[in-house]
Amino acid sequence: MNKFITFEGVDGAGKSTHLAWFADMLRQRGVEVVLTREPGGTKLGEQLREMLLSQSMSITTEAMLMFAARIEHVEQVIKPALLAGKWVISDRFSDASFAYQGSGRGMDWDKLTQLESWVALVPHLTLFFDLPVEVARQRLANNISLDRFEKEQSEFFERVRSGYQRRVAENPQRFAVIDAAQTLEAVQQQLASILESMQ
Ligand code: TYD
Repeated sequence: MNKFITFEGVDGAGKSTHLAWFADMLRQRGVEVVLTREPGGTKLGEQLREMLLSQSMSITTEAMLMFAARIEHVEQVIKPALLAGKWVISDRFSDASFAYQGSGRGMDWDKLTQLESWVALVPHLTLFFDLPVEVARQRLANNISLDRFEKEQSEFFERVRSGYQRRVAENPQRFAVIDAAQTLEAVQQQLASILESMQ
């Protein structure tokens, strides 16, 4: 049975690298995989991403644009791919809005839950790449161009991390928590065993 899997974590957790490796592993097993990301994933969504990552705006606008991009993404990309029997792996999804706009920026959790009800699609599995914020910050330090979120202070990322942990506590059956402070190989081993348990 095909699956919709999302990858989450604070900036610098390494999720994008692991996502590429995970998708390769699935393809080697003959699985047809669609790789996508948020904000983005569609032409309009990528335009919204550009604005979201560069322009300052009110928290409510930020949250609503994240969800507007998500609705396009679900309707145009994710649902059609799932209906065609493909697996879909998304670099971030609704949990990121709770972690970043909710816990990070302080937007009311209930309002986000209302916005989430418009999306009406829940991942089968969410991999949360968790690590201490200082470790994630050190990894980001090598990046020359940081976006509007990555430029935030450590305290912001501490709140984002606790937002993710709250989502895990609220949805324990959907999440797998990965210790992202481990070596690349150790994380890959953990991912391989998660995949074994799914098939
Ligand atoms: P990210 O996956 O970090 O992109 P990249 O690896 O190319 O830097 O995502 C971009 C940023 O968007 C990230 O800092 C988190 C933020 N974001 C939110 O604040 N809310 C959301 O709902 C989503 C999907 C992302």
